[in-house]
Amino acid sequence: MRIGVLTGGGDCPGLNAVIRAAVRKGEQTYGHSFIGFRDGWKGPLEGLTMPLDVAATRGILPRGGTILGSSRTNPIGVDGGIEQIRSNLSELGVDALIAIGGEDTLGVATRLSAEGLPVVGVPKTIDNDLGATDYTFGFDTAVQIAVDAIDRLHTTAESHHRVLIVEVMGRHAGWIALHSGLAGGANVILIPERPFDIAQVCEYIEHRFASHYSPIVVVAEGALPAEGTMALQDQGVDAFGHVRLGGIGAVLEREIGDRTGKEARATVLGHVQRGGTPTAYDRVLATRFGLHAIDAVHEGESGVMVALRGTDILRVPLADATRELKTVSLERYEEVEVFFG
Ligand code: F6P
Repeated sequence: MRIGVLTGGGDCPGLNAVIRAAVRKGEQTYGHSFIGFRDGWKGPLEGLTMPLDVAATRGILPRGGTILGSSRTNPIGVDGGIEQIRSNLSELGVDALIAIGGEDTLGVATRLSAEGLPVVGVPKTIDNDLGATDYTFGFDTAVQIAVDAIDRLHTTAESHHRVLIVEVMGRHAGWIALHSGLAGGANVILIPERPFDIAQVCEYIEHRFASHYSPIVVVAEGALPAEGTMALQDQGVDAFGHVRLGGIGAVLEREIGDRTGKEARATVLGHVQRGGTPTAYDRVLATRFGLHAIDAVHEGESGVMVALRGTDILRVPLADATRELKTVSLERYEEVEVFFG
């Protein structure tokens, strides 16, 4: 078999580990050959390829990013996009595709497999918001990066008696904020699932200062104030129609400063959370996903995604992967509220 591999959407530590594992087992155990598609769905759409074999994947296990490149190209939004992909794959002699991506990339994979193209999906996102899998690789690394930053911010916040606000990624789901805030001992955690009351946030802050400690606020980029309480700016959208977020930290900085009279400063972690080497946990999960994905392709499966359930890797219908976003439940959020203030 000749198998195409692509990585789509925002990059994520562990992508290279998936590629390496699938290629190693595919070539060594099953005798398959591979072709790399560059820059997400743009690769199959425009016929952008690169050689992919065991030699090309040597040494990439600890490397962040993706050797294949990524993009947010959406072929479904391109006129004749699906037919273009079908004809490119057939010209290149590709029998099956492994698509590694999040909600958007796997949404395209679902559509292609429904159109009869053999695709196996691998879930990826630092946001950990895909419903069909307990965890996605990249999440653990992103949380660790955020916790390292929060640990450092605590000491400088204390020295200057400031409120330090840490803006982390998470447009619809607050998993990174919840886990990093909990592990980093934040005094307030704000997530998209729970619109916040700025007056309550300021109360927590005052309370923290009253106990002679400086507050740390962790806020997910998609967190929103409860209706009518604070104004936010308009933002642009990407190819999948997602609003480009970022900026809630700066808004909070102003608002908290004005309301409490304390000096507030925001740190936006941004793409730092997606860069660099994956943690050991993410390397193991990504490698296992790669191994199970190539097994699925070898067995002739299509329209499935590998998923983590407990400690096992299972195959689930691709359609399930994107059906529901896994968001933070009220119970999970209430669990950590005891540490607020
Ligand atoms: O989907 C993953 C993610 O990291 C989100 O948390 C974030 O909103 C988005 O990607 C930002 O990606 P980019 O700036 O690359 O478009």
